[in-house]
Amino acid sequence: MDIKDHIRAIPDFPKKGILFYDISTLLSHPDAWQVAMGRMAKIVGQHRPDILVGIESRGFLVAAPLALKLGCGFVMARKRGKLPGKTVEHEYDLEYGTDAIALQDDALAPGQRVVVLDDLLATGGTLNATIELCKKVGGNVVGAAGIIELTFLNGRSRIDVPFDSLISYDA
Ligand code: PRP
Ligand code: MG
Repeated sequence: MDIKDHIRAIPDFPKKGILFYDISTLLSHPDAWQVAMGRMAKIVGQHRPDILVGIESRGFLVAAPLALKLGCGFVMARKRGKLPGKTVEHEYDLEYGTDAIALQDDALAPGQRVVVLDDLLATGGTLNATIELCKKVGGNVVGAAGIIELTFLNGRSRIDVPFDSLISYDA
């Protein structure tokens, strides 16, 4: 099965000139989603993770089912201000301004093998920030993965752990 057959490209979203790769049609197709998660489980399982970190919001859709499949825990990396209790944040640059991603400070046990997951790697800013944050709270980040990689944005160059994707687009 070609996962690309189940992903829609929508022009000019969220703004003019951006081609948005939409996973809604993959999520809503039971067989294709099952296949995609099966392939992701094989890749991610090779890192022998103890815990999977999913990045809000679409990364949750990937990390939660994979955690169940692989028998690991699942941790939410959320946009700032959304998690209760003591949190640790890491700021990252957007096209205009900055944003921050947060984890609860006790979310990862020291030395725990962590794999960070998102739906898509574009510039790599979001994933890089989350990896740095996981390290800050004591996690041993052994890998990262996503369904889609936009290779023309070279986000991979900002990621200092092994990164895998199921499919890539070069334009
Ligand atoms: C999108 C996507 C990744 C990120 C990739 O999330 O789901 O998380 O952008 O971009 P980058 O590699 O350039 O950092 P978005 O912030 O749109 O939020 P969402 O997941 O809540 O839809
Ligand atoms: Mg996202």
